[in-house]
Amino acid sequence: MSKVTVIGAGNVGATVANVLAHRDFVNEIVLVDIRGEMAEGKALDTWQQAPIDYYSTKLTGTGDYALTADSDVVVITAGLPRKPGMSRDDLISTNAGIVVSCVKSVLQYSKDPIIIIVSNPLDVMTHAAFKASCLPSSKVFGMAGILDTARYRAFLSTELKVSPKDIQAVLMGGHGDTMVPLPRYTTVGGIPVTELIDADKLDAIVERTKKGGGELVQLMGTSAWYAPGAAAAQMVEAILKDENRIFPVCAKTEGTYGVEDMYLGVPVKLGKGGIKEIIELKLNEEEKALLNASAIAVKEVIDVFDNMNLI
Ligand code: NAI
Ligand code: 2OP
Repeated sequence: MSKVTVIGAGNVGATVANVLAHRDFVNEIVLVDIRGEMAEGKALDTWQQAPIDYYSTKLTGTGDYALTADSDVVVITAGLPRKPGMSRDDLISTNAGIVVSCVKSVLQYSKDPIIIIVSNPLDVMTHAAFKASCLPSSKVFGMAGILDTARYRAFLSTELKVSPKDIQAVLMGGHGDTMVPLPRYTTVGGIPVTELIDADKLDAIVERTKKGGGELVQLMGTSAWYAPGAAAAQMVEAILKDENRIFPVCAKTEGTYGVEDMYLGVPVKLGKGGIKEIIELKLNEEEKALLNASAIAVKEVIDVFDNMNLI
Protein backbone atom coordinates (compact mmCIF):
# COMPACT_ATOMS: atom_id res chain seq x y z
CA MET A 1 0.00 0.00 0.00
CA SER A 2 1.37 3.44 -0.80
CA LYS A 3 -0.06 6.82 0.07
CA VAL A 4 1.06 10.20 -1.27
CA THR A 5 -0.02 13.60 0.02
CA VAL A 6 0.29 16.65 -2.21
CA ILE A 7 -0.03 19.95 -0.36
CA GLY A 8 -1.15 22.91 -2.47
CA ALA A 9 -3.80 22.02 -5.04
CA GLY A 10 -2.88 24.86 -7.40
CA ASN A 11 -1.36 24.46 -10.84
CA VAL A 12 1.68 22.40 -9.83
CA GLY A 13 0.07 20.36 -7.03
CA ALA A 14 -2.94 19.34 -9.12
CA THR A 15 -0.58 18.32 -11.94
CA VAL A 16 1.53 16.16 -9.59
CA ALA A 17 -1.66 14.36 -8.48
CA ASN A 18 -2.92 13.99 -12.05
CA VAL A 19 0.38 12.65 -13.41
CA LEU A 20 0.77 10.21 -10.49
CA ALA A 21 -2.81 8.97 -10.92
CA HIS A 22 -2.11 8.27 -14.59
CA ARG A 23 0.98 6.20 -13.66
CA ASP A 24 -1.37 4.00 -11.57
CA PHE A 25 1.11 2.69 -8.98
CA VAL A 26 0.05 4.72 -5.90
CA ASN A 27 -2.91 3.36 -3.92
CA GLU A 28 -4.07 6.70 -2.56
CA ILE A 29 -3.39 10.39 -3.19
CA VAL A 30 -4.59 13.13 -0.83
CA LEU A 31 -4.62 16.66 -2.21
CA VAL A 32 -4.61 19.31 0.54
CA ASP A 33 -5.15 23.05 0.22
CA ILE A 34 -6.26 25.90 2.47
CA ARG A 35 -8.98 26.16 -0.14
CA GLY A 36 -10.30 22.71 0.82
CA GLU A 37 -13.25 22.71 -1.58
CA MET A 38 -11.00 23.57 -4.49
CA ALA A 39 -8.76 20.62 -3.54
CA GLU A 40 -11.85 18.43 -3.29
CA GLY A 41 -12.96 19.54 -6.76
CA LYS A 42 -9.58 18.89 -8.38
CA ALA A 43 -9.32 15.43 -6.78
CA LEU A 44 -12.85 14.61 -7.94
CA ASP A 45 -12.11 15.83 -11.46
CA THR A 46 -8.99 13.62 -11.66
CA TRP A 47 -10.96 10.67 -10.24
CA GLN A 48 -13.62 11.20 -12.92
CA GLN A 49 -10.84 10.95 -15.52
CA ALA A 50 -10.00 7.42 -14.26
CA PRO A 51 -12.67 5.52 -16.24
CA ILE A 52 -11.51 7.29 -19.41
CA ASP A 53 -7.76 6.89 -18.91
CA TYR A 54 -7.84 3.56 -16.99
CA TYR A 55 -6.31 3.97 -13.57
CA SER A 56 -7.50 3.04 -10.11
CA THR A 57 -5.52 5.33 -7.80
CA LYS A 58 -7.95 6.67 -5.20
CA LEU A 59 -7.99 10.47 -4.87
CA THR A 60 -9.25 12.67 -2.04
CA GLY A 61 -9.19 16.47 -1.85
CA THR A 62 -9.45 18.24 1.48
CA GLY A 63 -8.39 21.02 3.83
CA ASP A 64 -8.12 18.54 6.69
CA TYR A 65 -4.66 17.13 7.49
CA ALA A 66 -6.16 14.20 9.41
CA LEU A 67 -6.88 12.60 6.02
CA THR A 68 -3.14 12.62 5.22
CA ALA A 69 -2.39 10.15 8.05
CA ASP A 70 0.39 7.61 7.35
CA SER A 71 1.57 9.13 4.09
CA ASP A 72 4.72 7.60 2.61
CA VAL A 73 5.64 10.67 0.54
CA VAL A 74 4.51 14.29 0.89
CA VAL A 75 5.00 16.81 -1.91
CA ILE A 76 4.73 20.45 -0.83
CA THR A 77 3.73 22.91 -3.55
CA ALA A 78 1.88 25.40 -1.33
CA GLY A 79 3.03 28.99 -1.61
CA LEU A 80 2.46 32.37 -3.14
CA PRO A 81 4.08 33.90 -6.18
CA ARG A 82 5.67 37.33 -5.70
CA LYS A 83 3.15 40.16 -6.02
CA PRO A 84 3.81 43.81 -6.98
CA GLY A 85 5.28 45.70 -4.04
CA MET A 86 6.57 42.54 -2.36
CA SER A 87 10.31 42.28 -1.76
CA ARG A 88 12.19 39.00 -2.14
CA ASP A 89 12.50 38.91 1.64
CA ASP A 90 8.70 39.26 1.96
CA LEU A 91 8.29 36.27 -0.34
CA ILE A 92 10.82 34.25 1.65
CA SER A 93 9.07 34.90 4.96
CA THR A 94 5.56 34.39 3.51
CA ASN A 95 6.37 31.14 1.74
CA ALA A 96 8.61 29.86 4.54
CA GLY A 97 5.74 30.45 6.96
CA ILE A 98 3.46 28.42 4.68
CA VAL A 99 5.99 25.61 4.09
CA VAL A 100 6.89 25.34 7.78
CA SER A 101 3.21 25.18 8.80
CA CYS A 102 2.55 22.50 6.14
CA VAL A 103 5.50 20.43 7.40
CA LYS A 104 4.35 20.70 11.02
CA SER A 105 0.74 19.86 10.16
CA VAL A 106 1.69 16.84 8.09
CA LEU A 107 4.02 15.49 10.79
CA GLN A 108 1.13 15.45 13.26
CA TYR A 109 -0.35 12.59 11.24
CA SER A 110 2.58 10.90 9.46
CA LYS A 111 5.57 9.81 11.56
CA ASP A 112 8.50 9.89 9.18
CA PRO A 113 7.39 10.56 5.60
CA ILE A 114 9.68 11.56 2.78
CA ILE A 115 9.10 15.26 2.03
CA ILE A 116 9.70 16.74 -1.41
CA ILE A 117 9.62 20.54 -1.57
CA VAL A 118 8.55 22.35 -4.75
CA SER A 119 7.61 25.80 -3.35
CA ASN A 120 9.91 28.72 -4.21
CA PRO A 121 12.48 30.03 -3.55
CA LEU A 122 13.25 26.33 -3.78
CA ASP A 123 16.64 25.93 -2.11
CA VAL A 124 15.76 28.00 0.94
CA MET A 125 12.27 26.46 1.26
CA THR A 126 13.89 23.02 1.33
CA HIS A 127 16.30 24.24 4.03
CA ALA A 128 13.31 25.63 6.00
CA ALA A 129 11.39 22.35 5.68
CA PHE A 130 14.43 20.37 6.85
CA LYS A 131 14.85 22.58 9.90
CA ALA A 132 11.13 22.40 10.74
CA SER A 133 10.87 18.64 10.27
CA CYS A 134 13.74 17.24 12.38
CA LEU A 135 13.84 14.39 9.82
CA PRO A 136 17.13 13.12 8.36
CA SER A 137 18.24 15.06 5.27
CA SER A 138 17.93 11.85 3.21
CA LYS A 139 14.16 12.30 3.65
CA VAL A 140 13.79 16.03 2.99
CA PHE A 141 14.82 17.38 -0.40
CA GLY A 142 13.64 19.60 -3.22
CA MET A 143 12.57 19.33 -6.85
CA ALA A 144 14.24 21.66 -9.35
CA GLY A 145 17.09 19.87 -11.13
CA ILE A 146 14.87 17.41 -13.01
CA LEU A 147 12.83 20.34 -14.34
CA ASP A 148 15.83 22.50 -15.22
CA THR A 149 17.59 19.55 -16.88
CA ALA A 150 14.38 18.73 -18.81
CA ARG A 151 14.30 22.29 -20.16
CA TYR A 152 17.95 22.00 -21.24
CA ARG A 153 17.26 18.62 -22.89
CA ALA A 154 14.14 19.95 -24.64
CA PHE A 155 16.07 22.93 -26.07
CA LEU A 156 18.84 20.59 -27.27
CA SER A 157 16.28 18.25 -28.82
CA THR A 158 14.78 21.11 -30.83
CA GLU A 159 18.19 22.39 -31.96
CA LEU A 160 19.59 18.97 -32.91
CA LYS A 161 16.30 17.64 -34.33
CA VAL A 162 16.59 14.44 -32.27
CA SER A 163 14.19 12.82 -29.84
CA PRO A 164 14.30 14.26 -26.31
CA LYS A 165 14.33 10.61 -25.18
CA ASP A 166 17.93 10.25 -26.37
CA ILE A 167 19.34 13.24 -24.51
CA GLN A 168 20.95 12.56 -21.13
CA ALA A 169 22.23 15.44 -19.04
CA VAL A 170 22.98 16.65 -15.57
CA LEU A 171 22.76 20.12 -14.08
CA MET A 172 23.81 21.37 -10.66
CA GLY A 173 23.55 24.37 -8.33
CA GLY A 174 20.67 26.53 -7.12
CA HIS A 175 17.26 26.85 -8.79
CA GLY A 176 17.91 30.28 -10.28
CA ASP A 177 20.04 32.14 -12.79
CA THR A 178 23.24 30.72 -11.28
CA MET A 179 22.31 27.08 -12.02
CA VAL A 180 25.07 25.10 -13.72
CA PRO A 181 24.16 22.99 -16.77
CA LEU A 182 27.09 20.65 -17.52
CA PRO A 183 27.75 20.18 -21.27
CA ARG A 184 30.71 17.88 -20.46
CA TYR A 185 28.19 15.47 -18.92
CA THR A 186 25.59 15.78 -21.71
CA THR A 187 25.19 13.02 -24.27
CA VAL A 188 22.92 12.34 -27.23
CA GLY A 189 22.42 8.63 -27.76
CA GLY A 190 25.75 8.12 -25.98
CA ILE A 191 27.60 10.73 -28.12
CA PRO A 192 29.09 13.75 -26.28
CA VAL A 193 26.89 16.75 -27.15
CA THR A 194 29.99 18.86 -27.84
CA GLU A 195 30.63 16.70 -30.96
CA LEU A 196 27.19 17.53 -32.35
CA ILE A 197 26.68 21.24 -31.80
CA ASP A 198 28.72 24.46 -32.20
CA ALA A 199 30.00 25.99 -28.95
CA ASP A 200 28.09 29.26 -29.45
CA LYS A 201 24.79 27.44 -29.99
CA LEU A 202 25.42 25.33 -26.89
CA ASP A 203 26.24 28.45 -24.87
CA ALA A 204 22.97 30.03 -26.00
CA ILE A 205 21.03 26.93 -24.89
CA VAL A 206 22.78 26.96 -21.50
CA GLU A 207 21.83 30.64 -21.06
CA ARG A 208 18.21 30.01 -22.14
CA THR A 209 18.01 27.11 -19.64
CA LYS A 210 19.15 29.34 -16.79
CA LYS A 211 16.27 31.70 -17.54
CA GLY A 212 13.83 28.92 -18.49
CA GLY A 213 11.40 29.58 -15.63
CA GLY A 214 11.31 33.32 -16.37
CA GLU A 215 10.64 32.69 -20.08
CA LEU A 216 7.44 30.84 -19.17
CA VAL A 217 6.36 33.49 -16.65
CA GLN A 218 6.73 36.07 -19.43
CA LEU A 219 4.60 33.97 -21.78
CA MET A 220 1.87 32.88 -19.34
CA GLY A 221 1.80 35.52 -16.60
CA THR A 222 2.41 32.79 -14.02
CA SER A 223 4.98 30.06 -13.56
CA ALA A 224 4.97 26.69 -15.30
CA TRP A 225 3.15 23.60 -14.04
CA TYR A 226 3.12 20.69 -16.54
CA ALA A 227 6.87 19.98 -16.51
CA PRO A 228 7.27 20.89 -12.81
CA GLY A 229 4.38 18.60 -11.84
CA ALA A 230 5.73 15.73 -13.96
CA ALA A 231 9.21 16.22 -12.48
CA ALA A 232 7.94 15.95 -8.89
CA ALA A 233 5.86 12.89 -9.85
CA GLN A 234 8.98 11.26 -11.33
CA MET A 235 10.74 11.67 -7.98
CA VAL A 236 7.79 10.07 -6.15
CA GLU A 237 7.88 7.16 -8.59
CA ALA A 238 11.63 6.62 -8.13
CA ILE A 239 11.13 6.49 -4.36
CA LEU A 240 8.05 4.28 -4.15
CA LYS A 241 9.30 1.84 -6.80
CA ASP A 242 12.81 1.88 -5.28
CA GLU A 243 14.23 2.59 -8.73
CA ASN A 244 17.65 3.95 -7.72
CA ARG A 245 17.30 6.68 -10.36
CA ILE A 246 20.12 9.21 -10.77
CA PHE A 247 18.61 12.68 -10.72
CA PRO A 248 19.75 16.20 -9.91
CA VAL A 249 17.97 17.03 -6.65
CA CYS A 250 18.18 19.88 -4.14
CA ALA A 251 19.91 17.94 -1.35
CA LYS A 252 21.89 18.75 1.75
CA THR A 253 25.47 18.60 0.49
CA GLU A 254 26.94 17.06 3.66
CA GLY A 255 30.36 18.41 2.68
CA THR A 256 30.42 17.04 -0.88
CA TYR A 257 31.75 19.27 -3.69
CA GLY A 258 33.72 21.27 -1.13
CA VAL A 259 30.47 23.09 -0.33
CA GLU A 260 29.67 23.56 3.32
CA ASP A 261 26.67 21.68 4.66
CA MET A 262 23.77 23.32 2.77
CA TYR A 263 20.92 22.61 0.35
CA LEU A 264 22.02 22.80 -3.30
CA GLY A 265 21.29 20.95 -6.55
CA VAL A 266 23.53 17.87 -6.84
CA PRO A 267 23.19 14.47 -8.55
CA VAL A 268 21.81 11.82 -6.20
CA LYS A 269 20.66 8.22 -6.22
CA LEU A 270 16.94 8.21 -5.39
CA GLY A 271 15.01 5.17 -4.22
CA LYS A 272 13.32 3.60 -1.22
CA GLY A 273 13.92 5.77 1.84
CA GLY A 274 14.79 8.84 -0.25
CA ILE A 275 18.34 9.93 -1.09
CA LYS A 276 20.64 6.92 -0.90
CA GLU A 277 23.80 8.68 -2.03
CA ILE A 278 25.09 12.00 -3.33
CA ILE A 279 27.16 11.38 -6.45
CA GLU A 280 30.35 13.44 -6.55
CA LEU A 281 31.40 14.20 -10.14
CA LYS A 282 35.00 15.14 -10.94
CA LEU A 283 34.31 18.73 -11.97
CA ASN A 284 36.97 20.73 -13.80
CA GLU A 285 38.14 24.13 -12.51
CA GLU A 286 35.60 26.11 -14.57
CA GLU A 287 32.69 23.92 -13.44
CA LYS A 288 33.86 24.10 -9.83
CA ALA A 289 33.96 27.91 -10.01
CA LEU A 290 30.42 28.06 -11.44
CA LEU A 291 29.11 25.70 -8.76
CA ASN A 292 30.85 27.69 -6.07
CA ALA A 293 29.30 30.94 -7.34
CA SER A 294 25.88 29.30 -7.31
CA ALA A 295 26.44 28.01 -3.76
CA ILE A 296 27.38 31.53 -2.63
CA ALA A 297 24.19 32.95 -4.20
CA VAL A 298 22.01 30.28 -2.52
CA LYS A 299 23.79 30.76 0.82
CA GLU A 300 22.96 34.48 0.78
CA VAL A 301 19.24 33.67 0.56
CA ILE A 302 19.51 30.97 3.22
CA ASP A 303 21.21 33.52 5.50
CA VAL A 304 18.33 35.96 4.94
CA PHE A 305 15.94 33.20 6.04
CA ASP A 306 18.05 32.14 9.04
CA ASN A 307 18.29 35.77 10.22
CA MET A 308 14.48 35.95 10.25
CA ASN A 309 14.46 33.41 13.11
CA LEU A 310 11.18 31.92 11.89
CA ILE A 311 11.91 28.47 13.36
P1 NAI B 1 -0.66 28.18 -7.38
O1 NAI B 1 -0.90 29.55 -6.88
O2 NAI B 1 -1.38 27.67 -8.57
O3 NAI B 1 -0.93 27.12 -6.18
C1 NAI B 1 -0.49 27.30 -4.88
C2 NAI B 1 -1.53 26.71 -3.97
O4 NAI B 1 -1.06 26.77 -2.62
C3 NAI B 1 -2.86 27.48 -3.99
O5 NAI B 1 -3.92 26.60 -4.36
C4 NAI B 1 -3.02 27.98 -2.55
O6 NAI B 1 -4.37 28.01 -2.11
C5 NAI B 1 -2.20 26.95 -1.80
N1 NAI B 1 -1.80 27.38 -0.47
C6 NAI B 1 -1.36 28.59 -0.08
N2 NAI B 1 -1.11 28.58 1.25
C7 NAI B 1 -1.37 27.33 1.68
C8 NAI B 1 -1.30 26.68 2.94
N3 NAI B 1 -0.89 27.34 4.04
N4 NAI B 1 -1.66 25.39 3.02
C9 NAI B 1 -2.09 24.72 1.95
N5 NAI B 1 -2.18 25.27 0.71
C10 NAI B 1 -1.82 26.56 0.60
O7 NAI B 1 0.92 28.07 -7.59
P2 NAI B 1 1.70 26.96 -8.44
O8 NAI B 1 1.86 27.44 -9.82
O9 NAI B 1 1.07 25.64 -8.20
O10 NAI B 1 3.14 27.01 -7.75
C11 NAI B 1 3.30 26.56 -6.43
C12 NAI B 1 4.70 26.86 -5.94
O11 NAI B 1 5.64 26.07 -6.67
C13 NAI B 1 5.15 28.32 -6.10
O12 NAI B 1 5.92 28.71 -4.98
C14 NAI B 1 6.02 28.25 -7.34
O13 NAI B 1 6.93 29.32 -7.39
C15 NAI B 1 6.69 26.93 -7.14
N6 NAI B 1 7.26 26.30 -8.33
C16 NAI B 1 8.47 25.68 -8.17
C17 NAI B 1 9.06 25.03 -9.21
C18 NAI B 1 10.35 24.31 -9.01
O14 NAI B 1 11.02 23.96 -9.98
N7 NAI B 1 10.75 24.03 -7.77
C19 NAI B 1 8.44 25.01 -10.56
C20 NAI B 1 7.15 25.65 -10.61
C21 NAI B 1 6.58 26.29 -9.52
C1 2OP C 1 10.11 27.48 -12.66
O1 2OP C 1 11.31 27.23 -12.82
C2 2OP C 1 9.25 29.41 -11.43
O2 2OP C 1 10.54 27.76 -10.34
C3 2OP C 1 9.63 27.99 -11.35
O3 2OP C 1 9.28 27.35 -13.58
